[in-house]
Amino acid sequence: MNRFTDKIALVTGASRGIGRAIAIRMASEGAHVVVNYARDVDGANSVVADIEAAGGSASVYQADVSDLDAATTMIKAVTKEHGKLDVLVNNAGTTRDQLILKMSEDDWDTVMRINLKGVFNCSKPAVRAMMRKRYGRIINITSVSGVLGNAGQTNYSASKAGVIGFTRALAREVAARSITVNAIAPGFIPTKLTGEMPEDLRDATLAMIPLSRWGDPEEIANAVAFLASDEAAYITGQTLNVDGGMAIG
Ligand SMILES: NC(=O)c1ccc[n+]([C@@H]2O[C@H](COP(=O)([O-])OP(=O)(O)OC[C@H]3O[C@@H](n4cnc5c(N)ncnc54)[C@H](OP(=O)(O)O)[C@@H]3O)[C@@H](O)[C@H]2O)c1
Repeated sequence: MNRFTDKIALVTGASRGIGRAIAIRMASEGAHVVVNYARDVDGANSVVADIEAAGGSASVYQADVSDLDAATTMIKAVTKEHGKLDVLVNNAGTTRDQLILKMSEDDWDTVMRINLKGVFNCSKPAVRAMMRKRYGRIINITSVSGVLGNAGQTNYSASKAGVIGFTRALAREVAARSITVNAIAPGFIPTKLTGEMPEDLRDATLAMIPLSRWGDPEEIANAVAFLASDEAAYITGQTLNVDGGMAIG
């Protein structure tokens, strides 16, 4: 399939993990992908190298998405260079897990700044560019923790639930310009973010997953590619759980 020929896609936090898989998938279907990162320059460069080695097209852009000026400058630079931005994937995220009595104000603020404000910071300039073209796809990576809540993650769960509300509200705002806004809520995907788990916690988590296995980053990328494609043109404001059934209601 080559669903993204001539499309420009920006994936935030694409230097490793889920963002890396999304960038590679979008490029494999013809998009030029801008690989955003904040600190992991080697990771970001290796994603671009992998895409180019497979015959795709990509570039890197360093910006901390929690900084509105940096995010705006990034989107303006991308639209200036390529003339447009078709797809924004707000994937950058972090955790500072702690039970509430031990959670510091900094743990709270850092997670909200990157996971929630970062989505606002990138979406605002992206919407400006997409409105001009009367076309756009915004896909926000939230989490099963934002759907179900997770003990030890009040900050993370609140930020990800906020992303779901943001997705619904923005979808209504921009629908008239043929811009869709959707979210994907991954379950448990082994990456640097989830780290090494003690065996007992690992077994307890697996027991919560009806499909009885972890997910792969590529399975999140499959869902992103679908929502970014023309096949999903009539879907907006939705959150798609890709979690092995963890959040079945
Ligand atoms: N893994 C899971 O089980 C899981 C489940 C549900 C949801 N998610 C969500 O999926 C997304 C990706 O997670 P992951 O598991 O792939 O994590 P990861 O391996 O730790 O990757 C996180 C990415 O975000 C980037 N990043 C962090 N802070 C940033 C900032 N301020 N500005 C720009 N980039 C930033 C990192 O790059 P730098 O190091 O360069 O900053 C990195 O590329 C996150 O939103 C996460 O909450 C993950």
